[in-house]
Amino acid sequence: MPKVTLHGNGQWREQEVAEGSNLVVLAATRRFANLKYGCGMGKCTKCTVRVLAGADGLPEPNWKERKLLGDRLELGYRLACQLVITRDIELLQE
Ligand code: FES
Repeated sequence: MPKVTLHGNGQWREQEVAEGSNLVVLAATRRFANLKYGCGMGKCTKCTVRVLAGADGLPEPNWKERKLLGDRLELGYRLACQLVITRDIELLQE
C-alpha cells in the first residue's frame, strides 16, 4: 500500500492508504485526517498541496488543475481532490 506523508501547520502525519485512493475522499470519511479541503471537485483550491516527493507517481495535471493552479504546477502544486495515489508520496499543505 502506498505511504502518504502530509506536512502542515508544523506537524506531519504518515499513513498507508489503499492503492487508487483519493485523499479528499479519505479525509471526508475521516480516514485521512489533517487534510484541508472544500468542494472535492476541483473548483475551490482549498485542497492545494505541494508535492515534496513522489510526483513521478502522479497522473498528469488535468484541465481543472491547469486552470486553477497555472504556473504553480511547475512549482509542484497539485489539487489533492484530483489525485489518485498509487505510490508513496510526500505532501505539504500550507
Ligand atoms: S477540494 Fe476544492 S479544489 Fe480540491
